[in-house]
Amino acid sequence: MHDLIDSPTDAVTSARQATALSLADRYETVRARTERRVAALEPEDMVVQSMPDASPAKWHLAHTTWFFETFLLGPNVPGYEVFDPEFGYLFNSYYEAIGPRHPRPMRGLLTRPSIHQVMAYRQHVDRHMRAWLAGDVSAELEALVLLGFAHEEQHQELLVMDVQHLFAQSPLKPAFDPEWPAPAPGATGRFRSVSGGLVRIGAEDEPFAFDNEGPAHRVWLEPFEIADRLATNGQWLAFMALGGYRRADLWLSDGWAQCQEEGWDAPLYWRHDGEAWSHMTPGGWRPVNPDAPVTHISYYEADAFARWAGARLPTEAEWEHAVRTRPDLQQVDDVAWQWTASAYSPYPGFQAADDAVGEYNGKFMIGQMVLRGGASVTPPGHSRPTYRNFYRPGQRWMFSGVRLARYAG
Ligand code: AVJ
Ligand code: FE
Repeated sequence: MHDLIDSPTDAVTSARQATALSLADRYETVRARTERRVAALEPEDMVVQSMPDASPAKWHLAHTTWFFETFLLGPNVPGYEVFDPEFGYLFNSYYEAIGPRHPRPMRGLLTRPSIHQVMAYRQHVDRHMRAWLAGDVSAELEALVLLGFAHEEQHQELLVMDVQHLFAQSPLKPAFDPEWPAPAPGATGRFRSVSGGLVRIGAEDEPFAFDNEGPAHRVWLEPFEIADRLATNGQWLAFMALGGYRRADLWLSDGWAQCQEEGWDAPLYWRHDGEAWSHMTPGGWRPVNPDAPVTHISYYEADAFARWAGARLPTEAEWEHAVRTRPDLQQVDDVAWQWTASAYSPYPGFQAADDAVGEYNGKFMIGQMVLRGGASVTPPGHSRPTYRNFYRPGQRWMFSGVRLARYAG
């Protein structure tokens, strides 16, 4: 079972640090890690879709393959024949420029193609990618290959989120990986002062970054304080005990409406277990550890918690500046993505590419908030200090947590 967990060797060969490895070697590494992540699943586990936001594991396996086939093999390998002409419709996620697609909420109704056929699809595309990567790949296409790697890594994380959500529905209490390591209990967080001023944020000379991480630009920051650790389950329990989920005055209006409608009284996946709480983790149902960072909270909950604590969420510029310039603030726990108070908007001068991959990030820059950092389920080396993750403020199935900030004063 332990091989489901990324080994230290993977960390070294991950997308970010692997500049010494050939593109072809990195291709093998990223594809193999996806397959390792599903190695312990049964075929039935890979078909069901537990909610519209989640996708079946089988769909993730096929869609990441479709990405390489559609954006690299099709346009660049003369005479390339797609594995199955129906797959474009089934496994196109959201690219309008590519064509119509199977409705997202119906992904779980696809009992065909079978897992077996999807694995054959992976092998077909891998064989052609290997041959193509053995030749000369232009700098422009290399950038697209790196996007394919980062894309597959994003789906490795989505796959764990989605399987966890599915398994949380089962009375049999299955675990994604029973040996999944428990998060290391954190020290109590402290606020640290950051002077701010005119600072630079955004990616400029990263070996790889998504388009949404640039252009780098200047931002004015008033002096602020930011916690050196994430908020813990213990702090969250205090918030709950003191009426955090019952006090409308702590909540944004949209958040309060969702809290009422869905009956929130704790983070997603928390269940009463006698006197105590347990929650679903990639390791299965486990007792809630008061010293571990809280996870699976919406933006609305994070914001209400911060208000209750006499603090606020950091802006993404504050977060990035703190992490990039202060060694004492680089400890980002790597257990949970951290909600920021920043809307997911284009940076000044941002322009999405005018081809189909221009749809990758840019068109989602509405109605979502930015999360920074990385999570225990994020493939090693995938994230970086300029990384902008994004979700809608009511979503909770991702590994989201809170790092508090406040105005210096
Ligand atoms: C950045 C995680 C919100 O799930 O749609 C996957 C990642 N982009 N395929 C998403 C992504 C294209 C994206 N998130
Ligand atoms: Fe995708």
